[in-house]
Amino acid sequence: MDQNRATVSLNTQRTIAEISPLIFGGFAEHMGRCIYEGIYDPGSPLADENGIRQDVVAALRETNYRIMRYPGGNFVSGYRWTDGIGPKEQRPRRRALAWRSIETNQFGPHEFMEFAREIGTEPMWAVNLGTGTIQEAADLVEYLNLPTGTLYSDLRAKNGHPEPYGVKYWCLGNEMDGPWQIGQMDAATYAEKAVQAAKLMRWMDPTIQTIACGSSATAMPGYPDWDMTVLGHAYDHIDYFSMHHYAANPYPTISNTERLPVDTDSYLASSLHFEEHADTLGAAIRVAKAKKRSKKNVHLCWDEWNVWYRAKGGDGEWSEAPHILEEEYNLEDALVVATWLNTFLRKADIVKIACIAQIVNVIAPIMTRKDGMFKQTIFYPLTIFSNHASGYALDALVKAPLRATKRYGDVPQLDASASFDPATGKGGVFLVNRSQTQPLTLHLCWEDEAPQSVTRAWQMHGEDPFAGNSFEQPDNVVPYEFTPPHMEGRAVTLELPPLSFTALLTQHTRG
Ligand code: AHR
Repeated sequence: MDQNRATVSLNTQRTIAEISPLIFGGFAEHMGRCIYEGIYDPGSPLADENGIRQDVVAALRETNYRIMRYPGGNFVSGYRWTDGIGPKEQRPRRRALAWRSIETNQFGPHEFMEFAREIGTEPMWAVNLGTGTIQEAADLVEYLNLPTGTLYSDLRAKNGHPEPYGVKYWCLGNEMDGPWQIGQMDAATYAEKAVQAAKLMRWMDPTIQTIACGSSATAMPGYPDWDMTVLGHAYDHIDYFSMHHYAANPYPTISNTERLPVDTDSYLASSLHFEEHADTLGAAIRVAKAKKRSKKNVHLCWDEWNVWYRAKGGDGEWSEAPHILEEEYNLEDALVVATWLNTFLRKADIVKIACIAQIVNVIAPIMTRKDGMFKQTIFYPLTIFSNHASGYALDALVKAPLRATKRYGDVPQLDASASFDPATGKGGVFLVNRSQTQPLTLHLCWEDEAPQSVTRAWQMHGEDPFAGNSFEQPDNVVPYEFTPPHMEGRAVTLELPPLSFTALLTQHTRG
């Protein structure tokens, strides 16, 4: 194959699966400056009368998050939800042990539900299975979901919300295999606690869907045994199985302290790792289903994913809203995020929920200070996918030159995914040229129903993989919209520069 040419063939009938809109989700944890100073910042001129940052709300709406995980993360394993309800002046200040911070509880369940409503997202609540009991988990379901007439539902009404909130998605704890987790346990102990919690929570509200914790990383010594054990025991009681991964350059092989040289070629091929992770857990789910002789399907909930390796220190030094995990993102990170979103589309049959960790300030697409915010590089691919990938994921046939990487061997230079919505006739094609030096001439063709036109096109690229945005240079690395390529019969040809993300939208006759 010509070393600088690639082809992508699409067929609107050759689908992988329906794309779950919930793969475009976020995660808001009580840590660092995510909630306090990110979402809730009463001292800012940009906050409304409830203290909610309106510039942040606007940016979150732009990203169009369909689901939002809350309130943690590691934080949740020590969280008492009753601390966050009632008059604000009576809410306790506590040491949040997970991040060595002070939690003021000025933002709690009601504030979160109102915030979720404001940005138009579905809430996904995590219950505390670290220090928390299964009774407290069931009480929270009662508080948020039941009609008035019992202790906690009446308390909700007294606190200003007589109508049940109807929270559907519930995470059974967080990363319970991690030594850093408050109340870490072994797989069998966790699986049994998750089953008992799910049982009580469902007795309280049979309409809820539950999500069990998978291994907190593929690097964990217990991976994937933990996953097999939890699935084997809890399969009948859960609807989703959670997975977490943070990409890094370089990827730590032995320990986080070992210094390895930066390896951008391997880093840009991280989607091979993402796919293998999803494939392994997808297979574990199938084995568990077969062993149970179950008719029910469990899907993957990738409820923490992002790039995170620079701002690793999580010590809040017992302060409020400490500046921790404030990762600054660059072009190569945005490209890795784009390949991750491509992976979600390619795995649309098994990945049904995904939440980028996190949404503001803490390893996040947007950063705030009192008087403003800026969008990091990763904001852009996320927002383009979230707004334009819908309907069905297409099984794209990709032919591209192979490029050598140290970590993954020979890897196709082009990473691609595509979507098509038969109801509207709208399509999307998402392309990452992961080479640092080699452009690609792409021949993109439709085997069946070719679009009338490519309606819009964006490209994000640059020569410096380490260039990013900042308060001083907020638009240093952003996508630009360009004139869409013309259809030539059933195909288009376009140039994909090195280090680039390209998105094309198409309109087909139906719709
Ligand atoms: O997202 C930051 C932290 O990473 C979360 O609290 C935890 O679940 C994970 O280890």
